[in-house]
Amino acid sequence: MKAIRIHSYGDLDALNYEEAPMPETGATDVRIRVHAAAVNPVDWKIRAGYLASMVPHQMPLTLGWDVSGVVEQIGSEVSHLAVGDAVYSRPDITRNGSYAEYVVVRASEVATKPATLTHNQAAAVPLAGLTAWQALFDHAQLKAGERVLIHAGAGGVGSFAIQFAKSAGAHVIATASAGNEALVRGLGADEFVDYRSQRFEDVLSKVDVVLDTIGGDTQERSIQLLNAGGRLFSVVGPPNADALAAVGASGGGLMVQPSSENLTAIAQLIDAGKVKVLIDSVFPLSETRAAHEKSQTGRAKGKIVLEVVPN
Ligand SMILES: NC(=O)c1ccc[n+]([C@@H]2O[C@H](COP(=O)([O-])OP(=O)(O)OC[C@H]3O[C@@H](n4cnc5c(N)ncnc54)[C@H](OP(=O)(O)O)[C@@H]3O)[C@@H](O)[C@H]2O)c1
Repeated sequence: MKAIRIHSYGDLDALNYEEAPMPETGATDVRIRVHAAAVNPVDWKIRAGYLASMVPHQMPLTLGWDVSGVVEQIGSEVSHLAVGDAVYSRPDITRNGSYAEYVVVRASEVATKPATLTHNQAAAVPLAGLTAWQALFDHAQLKAGERVLIHAGAGGVGSFAIQFAKSAGAHVIATASAGNEALVRGLGADEFVDYRSQRFEDVLSKVDVVLDTIGGDTQERSIQLLNAGGRLFSVVGPPNADALAAVGASGGGLMVQPSSENLTAIAQLIDAGKVKVLIDSVFPLSETRAAHEKSQTGRAKGKIVLEVVPN
């Protein structure tokens, strides 16, 4: 089968579009015919070797940890899925990924694809959607009526987070650059801050929850905005515990986890018309290099998709 693999960590030149062995299905796995994959910043961070000390990988490595496709083979112990099922997943990041014609995923990490989405749209959901879901609801325990500040509202994680928070009844504030204001408000943001021309801590009232996708100075300044009892969770690096305690708040860092249960809940919101999938661009698998280049700019509006089977 065709796949995008790396043989060693490196820059864009490390990406190879090449023949790879068909992945073998273990007893608790399913093999999925990949119709679409999506690009996430973690893909090029892994490609470059930035996570080498945290995530063990063997070379050659197939990148990509978002998939939408059709079950093509099931393991001997899998009973809740069948050949022909349309599914989507964020597979275990320590295994080979989905920039390929086929990927093997644990059956427990797979959910039924949202019926109203194409495979290209569905592939854009799992990693960014699960990150937003788990940060807001599992970690920050966001409740209806609370004020939540979401950084990078036009990005992959932020575009889902705005919509999930809104559908949970929160008051949503998002940051982005001025050109993305209409987009972010269209997703449901009640308030918008252009982070380039305004310091958000100068123009916003206190908030109960912050979803930090930026880190550094943005994270530090966000802590000052938290109410007593507020929570800040970051997907890019843990916040300073002393700074949080000084304002009577709490929080931490998080790593997204595969979850078929969360994916099923997200699919229900999508199929109910409450969540849209924002696609920045679609590239054929053979042009993954251009897709990585785009993701690395940090300017994507929503998700970058790799189409494997035209849909
Ligand atoms: N820990 C985890 O499990 C986990 C999971 C998923 C993602 N992440 C990390 O979270 C980060 C975001 O991921 P993503 O997929 O959402 O990235 P992304 O889609 O590439 O984010 C792009 C967006 O970031 C916005 N942006 C850039 N700088 C900004 C700033 N200073 N303030 C506000 N917005 C800004 C851009 O908007 P403008 O063009 O308007 O500036 C753009 O729309 C990445 O570092 C990723 O690796 C971690």
